[in-house]
Amino acid sequence: MRLWILHAAVLVGLLTTGSHRTWAQDKDKKEAAAEKAPVELTILVPERGHKETVVTIQGVNLEGKGGVRKFTTPALEKGYKYRYKIEALIEPNNYTKIYRTKEIAFKPGEKVDVDLRVKDAKTDKIVVRWVPTPEDIVDKMAEMAKITKNDTVYDLGCGDAVMLIRPIKKLGAKKGVGIDIDAKIVEKAKQKAKEAGVADRIDLRVGDILNVSDMKEADVVLLYIGDDLGERLSPVLQKTMRPGARIVSHRFTLGDWKPDQTLTVKGEDGDEYTLHLWTVPEKKK
Ligand SMILES: C[S@@+](CC[C@H](N)C(=O)[O-])C[C@H]1O[C@@H](n2cnc3c(N)ncnc32)[C@H](O)[C@@H]1O
Repeated sequence: MRLWILHAAVLVGLLTTGSHRTWAQDKDKKEAAAEKAPVELTILVPERGHKETVVTIQGVNLEGKGGVRKFTTPALEKGYKYRYKIEALIEPNNYTKIYRTKEIAFKPGEKVDVDLRVKDAKTDKIVVRWVPTPEDIVDKMAEMAKITKNDTVYDLGCGDAVMLIRPIKKLGAKKGVGIDIDAKIVEKAKQKAKEAGVADRIDLRVGDILNVSDMKEADVVLLYIGDDLGERLSPVLQKTMRPGARIVSHRFTLGDWKPDQTLTVKGEDGDEYTLHLWTVPEKKK
C-alpha cells in the first residue's frame, strides 16, 4: 500500500511539473488562462501471460493488474498540451520480454485511451533469454540445412555460439557470424570459439537482431529465438537471403512463412526437439 502511495506521489509530481508540455492553440491559451482539469487515462494492455504486464508512465510504475489500467492525473493547467511516454513490459512466456512504447499527447480535461495490446513491428523491442541448444541437436539442424564447406552460417541470437562452432568444427563450414544483444554472452562465445580453435572463422557481434536489415551474405541461418522474434525477422530473411539459402529453426516458427519440412528428433538427453527447415525460393518477378 505504502509503495502504491509513493508511486502515485511520484507520478503526480511528474504530471504536474508539465516538463513535457507545450502550448496548445492560441485560442485555448486565451480562454484557459489559469483553469485546471485532470486527464483520465485508460491503458489497454495484453492480459496476463507468464507475468502481469508492467505499465510505466514517464518511467514511473503504475500499479495494477489485468488488461485495463486506469489513471487520473491531478488537475493540469489548461492552455498547454501535455506529452507523455507510456511503456508496457509484456512477458507472454517465461523466455520473452516485449517492451512496447507509445507517446501520447493530450489537453487537460480530455479522456485518453491508449492501446498497447497491438504488436508494433517498428518499435516493439523483443528480448529472449539465453537457453542453449544441445550440441547433438545443433548437429541435426546442420544436417537438415545440408551445411557444406562453402557455407557461411549465421546465428541471430547466437548465445555461446554453439550453432556456429559445431558446423565449423564438424562440417568445415567456411565462416560463422553470430549476433547477440547480451555483451556478456558474446564474450563467452568468443572464449568458446577460441578454445575450439575456430575464432579466426567466427565473427561475433553485440547487437539487436531487430536492426539486421540485410542477410544476403548468409548461406545458412540457424535460429533459436522464439516466435515473436521469428515473426519480426521473417520479412528480412525472405527479402534479402539468396534463393536456395536455408534456414533451420529449433522449435520456433517465422510468422506465417510455412516451413518446407518439420521434424521431431530425439536428443541424447531423451527429450524430443522440433526442427523446422525453410529454403528461400526464387524471387517473384
Ligand atoms: C534461446 S537463446 C539461443 C542461443 C543459441 N542460438 C543456441 O541455440 O544455443 C536466444 C539468444 O538470443 C539472444 N537475444 C534475445 N533477444 C535478442 C535480440 N533482440 N537481439 C539479439 N540477440 C537477442 C539472447 O541473449 C540469447 O543468447
